[in-house]
Amino acid sequence: MEFLVTGGAGFVGSHLIEALLSENHSVVCLDDFSTGKKKNLETIRDKLELVEGDIRDPTIVREVVMNVDVVFHLAAQISVSRSVREPLLDASVNIEGTINLLEAIRNSPVKRFIYMSTGGAIYGEPKVIPALENTLENPISPYGLSKLVGERYLQWYHKNYGLSYSIIRPANIFGPRQDPLGEAGVISIFLGRIKNNQPLDIFGDGTDTRDYVYVKDIAEVCIKAMKSTHNDIFNAGTGKQTNVLELIRIIENVTKHETRKNFCAPRSGDVHHISLDSKNAYDKLGWKPRTDITTGISNTWEWFVTNH
Ligand SMILES: NC(=O)c1ccc[n+]([C@@H]2O[C@H](COP(=O)([O-])OP(=O)(O)OC[C@H]3O[C@@H](n4cnc5c(N)ncnc54)[C@H](O)[C@@H]3O)[C@@H](O)[C@H]2O)c1
Repeated sequence: MEFLVTGGAGFVGSHLIEALLSENHSVVCLDDFSTGKKKNLETIRDKLELVEGDIRDPTIVREVVMNVDVVFHLAAQISVSRSVREPLLDASVNIEGTINLLEAIRNSPVKRFIYMSTGGAIYGEPKVIPALENTLENPISPYGLSKLVGERYLQWYHKNYGLSYSIIRPANIFGPRQDPLGEAGVISIFLGRIKNNQPLDIFGDGTDTRDYVYVKDIAEVCIKAMKSTHNDIFNAGTGKQTNVLELIRIIENVTKHETRKNFCAPRSGDVHHISLDSKNAYDKLGWKPRTDITTGISNTWEWFVTNH
């Protein structure tokens, strides 16, 4: 089988490619390196085909999908804050880019499409937490909106052209290689600041909660979804809520550093509370997260200490 991973030079994409290669699959990675890095692929560079290009470019995308059986679509504008500042850019990459890919696939051998959506931003502020897949999608950021629109286009291509698909709605993903200088990925941002002896910025009073899921568990759910035949949506999270102050306590224990905290105004577009019920992924894919938050943070810190 031949796989295309869009956004494969990014944080999650590079872990997914590693997992696919460990099962001896052939992988093509399409990435424009806007946030992705060649360094993320340095240990596996000679085992994959790397195409530098934009998912919005019809010519490149048509060429790339021509010999591919399955597409994992991860390339995206991923920052909630940036989507608030630059909604047009967000829509261009996340909506136009997704449609461009789906259009190219119509005349290609691609049989299955795995779409990386968001479970953290798509439900907005749900009344019941953990949210299920049938919880009303009610995004409060352009990022959540653009991901939802991408899902709906994919389902339209399924209904009209028979493209088989799974949609993954991950919670907040963390782990080695997440960019500490980005605007998303609070665990990496905090670890990066601790490493540089800087205070931690907390948006709001520190009681906002997130569901933190380890990156290798997300690579696993993507592969399980690819191997299944379900045309379905799968939340991928732990079901647990951890607030920012609790998260900092875990980080302080792991890193053995005491932190300085800098409380800032809440950011527009950020939800207050979210966690995901992933029973559907357990029932249909046999997936549940295997890495607890402390182990995941220890692995990430170890990576920071060696690589920064
Ligand atoms: N990190 C999280 O907590 C999280 C949570 C839920 C969903 N997701 C989704 O997972 C996917 C991967 O996110 P990530 O955290 O690895 O972010 P990332 O920024 O590390 O990866 C995104 C990749 O897409 C590439 N890219 C961006 N625009 C592109 C374009 N126009 N053409 C080609 N490539 C382009 C970037 O260069 C990068 O390599 C995204 O779809 C994101 O929305 C992430």
